[in-house]
Amino acid sequence: MNAFERQKKIYLEGASGIISPIPVDARLLEEKALKAMSKQAAAYIVGGAGHGDTMLQNRRAFERWRIVPRMLRDVSVRDTSIELFGKKYPYPLLLSPVGVLEMVHPEADMAVAKAAAATGIPYIFSNQASVPMEVCGAAMENQPRWFQLYWSKSDELVASFVQRAEASGCQAIVVTLDTTLLGWRTQDLELAYLPFLRGLGIAQYTSDPVFRRLLDDPDPNPAPKPKVTLEAIRTLWSMIRHYPGNFSENAKSGYPRKAVKKFIDIYTRPSLTWENLTYLRGITKLPILLKGILHPDDALKALDHGINGLVISNHGGRQVDGAVGTMDMLPRIADVVQGRIPLLIDSGVRGGADIFKALALGATAVCLGRPYVYGLTLGGTEGVQQVLANYLADFDLTMALAGCRSIKEIGADNVMMV
Ligand code: FNR
Repeated sequence: MNAFERQKKIYLEGASGIISPIPVDARLLEEKALKAMSKQAAAYIVGGAGHGDTMLQNRRAFERWRIVPRMLRDVSVRDTSIELFGKKYPYPLLLSPVGVLEMVHPEADMAVAKAAAATGIPYIFSNQASVPMEVCGAAMENQPRWFQLYWSKSDELVASFVQRAEASGCQAIVVTLDTTLLGWRTQDLELAYLPFLRGLGIAQYTSDPVFRRLLDDPDPNPAPKPKVTLEAIRTLWSMIRHYPGNFSENAKSGYPRKAVKKFIDIYTRPSLTWENLTYLRGITKLPILLKGILHPDDALKALDHGINGLVISNHGGRQVDGAVGTMDMLPRIADVVQGRIPLLIDSGVRGGADIFKALALGATAVCLGRPYVYGLTLGGTEGVQQVLANYLADFDLTMALAGCRSIKEIGADNVMMV
């Protein structure tokens, strides 16, 4: 659906008294979704690291770049498609991996998968999904999806995730590098709430044969028995409920608690270095992208290590407070990479103009994060679909009004820094 069709639909529905419950404006969407979430979900999803300074900087970095529209260029027919790793996609937009979506909607990743499939937008499945990749993959049929990997302490588990991603039709592996330790997330710390401890967001693990086998290994550092409080009982109940299979069998087996403990013990590897990437290259033929790259020297190192693409990201300001905005680094990274591999960018994308600016500065595509989660919160699959339709229409319109007919016509000449 192009911009005109989307506008027509919204205005015609309005003429019959129908106004969508999904706000079009990015700020209103966030505000409304925030009100609809539990306080734990709001802290986890909307919150960032430290003072939230990186989130602000992400927006400022987008705002510093201004579009300079060109006139009289016949923009009646437009082509928003791009090519990535030899495949054609209808828009320069993908969905960033976002974990623990069950905090905002019971259908979680599945609702997003359906919306992405209906729109043709590639969905990057999160390593911390609430629904196993095989289930979402099957629902998406032949529509595009990628898999995002957190490199755990077990290479065997890494290999198992990658092999499952291939088997479930994922077309690329995105390794997130910025979360070898969890950031200092003020809002979550304030509530002393981490969803994983309650068994949320670990579905890729509890559905994994290697992980399940690891649960039978003797635990060298068993956790002390928690004090019996009402909250401890709630936590245990949540772990059991989220573990696959029968509730009473799970309650007897002790596996749900073991799974949470094992996950916490192994889910990241702070000792990870560039050398580890050789292992990944050896176990998959899929394109490998590194997510979380911000320094141009790291972009060059990625090229040296045969990496196929980068996602310039600061994790939506959830990891390092006081970090650079991603749009401040995109031109610098594009400058050293010189078009040898595709550059994707996320963190702070809040409208069609942001997509346009990123493409103008050398991005091949842009990834959308929190806004689709707000759509999910307010309206499940339909909510995500509406958010996507609004972003795509806004982008199509920005492109036309700036005087560009296709993605390749968008260039540095279309923007300036103020
Ligand atoms: C994330 N992000 C993320 N990234 C990743 O590689 N794996 C993950 O599981 C998650 N989980 C996650 C949960 C939540 C609640 C958020 C908000 C973000 C980061 C995500 O992929 C993306 O980089 C940011 O969301 C981009 O920032 P904005 O545009 O959402 O502010």
